[in-house]
Amino acid sequence: MSKRFYITTAIDYVNGQPHLGHAYEKVIADVIARSRRSLGQETFFLTGLDEHGQKVQQAAVAEGKNPQSYCDELARAWQSFAARLNLSNDDFIRTTQPRHKQVVQAILAKLHSQGHFYREIYEGFYSAKEETFLTEKDRRPDGTCDPAYGEVVRLQEQNYYFKLRDHQAWLIGYIEQNPSFIAPDYRRNEVLGCLKNNVLEDLCITRPASRLNWGIPLPFDADYVTYVWFDALSNYLSMPAAQGDPGVPEAFRAPPGGNSPPLELWPADIHVVGKDIVKFHCVYWPIMLRAMGAALPKQVLVHGWWQKDGQKMSKSTGNVVDPVAVIEEWGADAFRFYVLRELDIGLDGNWTDAGFRARYAAELANGLGNLVNRSLSMLKRYRNGQVPAVSQELAPEAERVINDTRALLQENQLQAALQSIWSLITRANQYVDHTAPFKLAKDPSQGQRLDEVLYNLTEVCRILAVLLWPFLPETAGKIYAQLGLGGTPDKLAAARWGELQPGHLIGSPSALFPRKE
Ligand code: MSP
Repeated sequence: MSKRFYITTAIDYVNGQPHLGHAYEKVIADVIARSRRSLGQETFFLTGLDEHGQKVQQAAVAEGKNPQSYCDELARAWQSFAARLNLSNDDFIRTTQPRHKQVVQAILAKLHSQGHFYREIYEGFYSAKEETFLTEKDRRPDGTCDPAYGEVVRLQEQNYYFKLRDHQAWLIGYIEQNPSFIAPDYRRNEVLGCLKNNVLEDLCITRPASRLNWGIPLPFDADYVTYVWFDALSNYLSMPAAQGDPGVPEAFRAPPGGNSPPLELWPADIHVVGKDIVKFHCVYWPIMLRAMGAALPKQVLVHGWWQKDGQKMSKSTGNVVDPVAVIEEWGADAFRFYVLRELDIGLDGNWTDAGFRARYAAELANGLGNLVNRSLSMLKRYRNGQVPAVSQELAPEAERVINDTRALLQENQLQAALQSIWSLITRANQYVDHTAPFKLAKDPSQGQRLDEVLYNLTEVCRILAVLLWPFLPETAGKIYAQLGLGGTPDKLAAARWGELQPGHLIGSPSALFPRKE
């Protein structure tokens, strides 16, 4: 077996409300994972949940539940959220699973034995609400803090710290020498600027168990639990480690000889994360891995943030987009299409309901839906659904789009790939208007021309199903079924002009994207 393409998402806080931002990130990762599979690469897609911490502990207590059963209930809701988005994840990691906790403890034990940690007293202002110590920068001139921090108290606490300073120089060199490590470029430049202009503060990696017990205990000091980020970042490695992945250093990896052969995953090919957690993924995580003796992930792909109607989404003002409600009304593919077509990975975006409806009407219903519906309906009506002889008329244009789309998918340029696919949809719709098959059908001397036109249109529909599968898996499957083809259009190799066989009988056309008032 060889190494699989391994892609991950950030793991969401279990006590948060699943929203547009979470959904967007998971859809990006899903489309990349499906694209890689379609390109013929063995792929593993991991997503999951971040379940430890004070807020979870407090919320569970407030509901009179023990934290584990509280998390188990929420995890069911998050997993059904993933299913609603039609994610093709191969596993779902939860930081409260024994397989994860064991690996985190093994990592902590090794780094401790190698002298990467020290214990120190820290005194400062602490916000329980945000679970964080505040710096002078967080305090206003009159000494008070933003009310968002809730009650702020002076706290003296002894904790374990991870020495980061020694790592600053090699990390700068690494990021400079590996330009694709952080994408897009402007995010890499931000990280480099930050590393070059600041001295890295050592990272606090614990909380006293007396204050926070919903966490993974330090294997070498029972008075402490690991603080959430050390725990959370390790999820990317703990799943491969539990599977005996030979890419994971031996000290953390499950011994071989389990029931299934080891998965070869590490190093990760892509971590998809939001711009707010870049420092954790591009500074702390590489340093942790280097200290462990593990290879670094190949890329951190950073996406931007969504707003709604030009404003921050916030539950308290009701200004949120609920992806499940959108999916119930419009379908998962319409949601997936809008977020990826609207926003290039990296930039910030703005959701408007009007924008969503406009793209649905123009690009899905009138563009793709109309093309497939009229092409297949005409084949049904004029040729009893039987595919005519192969014609090459649109082959050069289709092949250009196939090649462009393939190259764009290889570079994770999802928005550009959609634009490329839609150029073929637009071209084929124009072709219908120009060739006017409904007129040809009325003139018996034009029978051969009608055959040519119908072949070109039907073959474009088949190719579109293959190109669209990573983005719109449900729709792609429907197009295949309406074409009377078995299986799933999940291999890009099938996007080759002329594969649709003359004489083949198509199924029944029906609207892919019903028009709505
Ligand atoms: N638990 C941490 C991540 C640990 S990863 C080792 C966390 N969780 S989160 O639930 O707050 O966020 C999960 C992901 O959703 C992050 O990548 C974050 O950037 C993304 N988003 C949260 N709100 C968002 C928007 N409004 N828009 C786009 N993505 C956003 O951070």
